[in-house]
Amino acid sequence: MCGIIGIASNKSVSINIINALKKLEYRGYDSAGLATITKGEINEKKCPGRVEKLEKILFQNPSEGKLGIGHVRWATHGVPNKVNAHPHSSEIVSVVHNGIIENSDELKKKLEISGQIFKSQTDTEVITILLTEKLKKLDPLNAVFETLDMLKGSFALGIIFKNFQDFVIGARRGSPLAVGYSNNENYLGSDSYALKSMTNKISYLDDGDVCLLSKDQIKFYNSKKEKINKEIFTLSDDKSSVSKGNYKNFMIKEIFEQPISIKTCLKEYIDKIREEINFYNLPINPKDIEKIVLIGCGTAYHSCLVAKYWLEELTSLTIETDIASEFRYRKVRFDKKALYIFVSQSGETADTYAALDICKKQNVKTCSIINVVESSIARHSDCVLPIHAGPEIGVASTKAFLGQMLVLYLLSLKISESRKDIDQIQYKRKIIDLKKLPSLITETLKEEEKIQLIAKDIYTSKGSMFLGRGSSFPIALEGALKLKELSYLHAEGYPAGEMKHGPLALIEDGLPVVVIAPKDKYFEKTISNMQEVIARGGKILLITNSVGQVISENVRFQIDLPESDLSLTPFLFSVPLQLLSYHVALFKKCDIDKPRNLAKSVTVE
Ligand code: F6R
Repeated sequence: MCGIIGIASNKSVSINIINALKKLEYRGYDSAGLATITKGEINEKKCPGRVEKLEKILFQNPSEGKLGIGHVRWATHGVPNKVNAHPHSSEIVSVVHNGIIENSDELKKKLEISGQIFKSQTDTEVITILLTEKLKKLDPLNAVFETLDMLKGSFALGIIFKNFQDFVIGARRGSPLAVGYSNNENYLGSDSYALKSMTNKISYLDDGDVCLLSKDQIKFYNSKKEKINKEIFTLSDDKSSVSKGNYKNFMIKEIFEQPISIKTCLKEYIDKIREEINFYNLPINPKDIEKIVLIGCGTAYHSCLVAKYWLEELTSLTIETDIASEFRYRKVRFDKKALYIFVSQSGETADTYAALDICKKQNVKTCSIINVVESSIARHSDCVLPIHAGPEIGVASTKAFLGQMLVLYLLSLKISESRKDIDQIQYKRKIIDLKKLPSLITETLKEEEKIQLIAKDIYTSKGSMFLGRGSSFPIALEGALKLKELSYLHAEGYPAGEMKHGPLALIEDGLPVVVIAPKDKYFEKTISNMQEVIARGGKILLITNSVGQVISENVRFQIDLPESDLSLTPFLFSVPLQLLSYHVALFKKCDIDKPRNLAKSVTVE
């Protein structure tokens, strides 16, 4: 993943680099570094750990300089320590890198044979050494182009030079890179969010592009070294706060924001007067669609799985779901009458982007459901359906998951209505029910205190299981994913009906088993599966909406959620699972907003 920043200015840049790196920490936070040109020399400072630590180092020993690059790392090659932290510098060049150089071992071997010595275990150092060699004969731009020709893989680079102190060079292949424009200052950054506090004028590099950025101009080149122009976008003035307010951390703030984010999204898509769902820009008329393919990673993929149940229920279409990292390498048969839907909060996930790119090359119809509207996935797809959740800062996705499901549900309803798979009465009733969702979520959030007690009871357990049937199965997967990523407690999500085919062997006395059982057509079956777990000693946490009814004496905890249209249970049943993982992680004193080994935006495959 990693985040990179570059600034060329008429004043000192290190404070702005640090501030931008803090915004990029969602991309990686195991080490940080920066390099400036100070008194004619490359001045590199780096450390393992967070940007805050780097800031303290700079406080004691400031880095002057009007030109600089910075980096936050998510380790791919080599452990997170000072030597492997970026930038990677020689006497004359310094490089920050996001992505993976796939042929780095091969290049490294050749360079070592020719006498080069590597200090780090990273793939990036290969670039520094290649550039240092090429700069002996070539000017910086040509040295960069020749080096890029030797690299395989995906990357975004920021480079400064000791002997050319007027500019930063940026290059993109596969990993995103934006530039920002201001007075006497220009910027390079992994995304527009990092640059937003400094400018709202942004351009995006495309694959193969290189840019040369000085304090008063930015020049762009395509992969053939031809000079090109770039469109300048004005970023929307997103007033939604990215501060924690009175909350302990971003995750809990984002969980409690869900009634509002859902309400905002509903307003965007439902015409108040006509009680009608609006999707103006779909790349294919719903009547002509024969198949829908839903693609994403992690939590976003779970929203696709939920949508499969809705779409199968509401339409007569064939629905497929796919994990992006699998889809991109499979021998997929593409279908011109299919709609390929890509779901991503960040819009920068490398695997999802690659899967989208494959579809674009096959000339099939694409649509993305994203949160960050300026993102690479949004810009690359035929049609964009934003989830309007506002910035999600906590690494564990919460409000974006509900937002993704909401847009998928609205789309399912709209497609169903357009194809006359459901009648107008049903359609309008579903919209009325849907509009109750924000207040139903508010009601559900009141269960927090009870969930805190459950968390206290289970946080020392060795493992846990999450079970559900129908659309509650992907919710079980999501509940398990949240618990493991936040609290490092092992958790398995399973279709309840599959337990007897193997996983039942895991059940032992006291193992926490979360059973997700709304009163839908699967209810009795799920409860029977729950009894099988109880008989083997499992400690049951039952989440249901059976309005106070005691389902079994042997249930350790029962959470009763408000009644709703059954299509809406995936939204409501997700909320207690978010709160559970949050409180277990709090009891375990884990870093809630930045769980170990993870990053918010996964820009490497
Ligand atoms: C888990 C989580 C991840 C993301 C996944 C895809 O809480 O956040 O599993 O859902 O990395 O990210 P996006 O949605 O940005 O494509």
